[in-house]
Amino acid sequence: MLFFNPEIPMNDEEFRLLRDLVYQHCGLHFTPDSKYLLERRLGKRLQQHRLKSFKDYYYLLRYNKDRDQELTEVVNALTTNETYFFREDFQLRTFSEEIIPEIRERKERNGDRSLRIWSAGCSSGEEPYTLAMLLLEEPSLRDWKIEIIGTDISQRVLQIARKGLYGASSFRSTKPDYQRRYFSETEGKFRISDRVRDLVSISYLNLFDSARVALLGKMDVVFCRNVIIYFDLAAKRRVIESFYHRLRPEGYLLLGHSESLMNISNAFALRHFTHDMVYQRPSLSECPEGVS
Ligand SMILES: C[S@@+](CC[C@H](N)C(=O)[O-])C[C@H]1O[C@@H](n2cnc3c(N)ncnc32)[C@H](O)[C@@H]1O
Repeated sequence: MLFFNPEIPMNDEEFRLLRDLVYQHCGLHFTPDSKYLLERRLGKRLQQHRLKSFKDYYYLLRYNKDRDQELTEVVNALTTNETYFFREDFQLRTFSEEIIPEIRERKERNGDRSLRIWSAGCSSGEEPYTLAMLLLEEPSLRDWKIEIIGTDISQRVLQIARKGLYGASSFRSTKPDYQRRYFSETEGKFRISDRVRDLVSISYLNLFDSARVALLGKMDVVFCRNVIIYFDLAAKRRVIESFYHRLRPEGYLLLGHSESLMNISNAFALRHFTHDMVYQRPSLSECPEGVS
């Protein structure tokens, strides 16, 4: 006999409590018309804990000794993690054909042969591994020290990224040649090769944890694609400001194709490249006053 009702409704007060808790934790923003989504996705957690109401679940998330672990489950349940290799080809061409040569020339002038790239909200790893494959294709970077840092808040997808084992849907936009050269087939799936993996580190990071974000150090390029669409304006501003501070002067910020900094920030310059437009942190001499 079932002791709990698997379809417990969420009332408006419970929705507000849970929505605010999620927002404060990770910036994900749910409007009242997405109440059903919270109800459906978190309802499974109620079943797991055999709770009778969403209010009880809220108290568990606030006061239980295992609340951090349960918050991990909430994030796993509520984040949208859609991704695939070589997503947004036009943007990747801009990255490898125009941005990388610019960085290379600029850095070589100063005898610097290091490159740091952050894939913020990397989901199951397809994005940072794609960047690594593109950089491996570039002979002039052969003796460079390259670091690609993939971070995400969902432990579920990070596990997949660390395993580096992918099914067919991850390859919907991958040229067969890349799949052949950088993956090996195993049990009907494809494992990323060590030479790609060696350029990439994967770790947990909540973009709203400012102290930990600051520990990442300075970046030449930040990719944050299809992540801030889930945040409200205040949260977008906070995250974009933190990217500004993580980027070196003249560093680049690449957002998803439907995203822009309109109304969010005017600290970046918009650069028009052949295939795409990209944001760039101004050089030290052009830095707007008050922002550094
Ligand atoms: C739709 S995926 C985008 C993946 C990849 N960037 C792409 O464009 O293919 C969005 C990712 O952002 C992550 N995310 C959402 N909120 C986050 C936060 N506060 N901190 C870190 N990652 C977050 C989600 O877990 C999810 O994996």
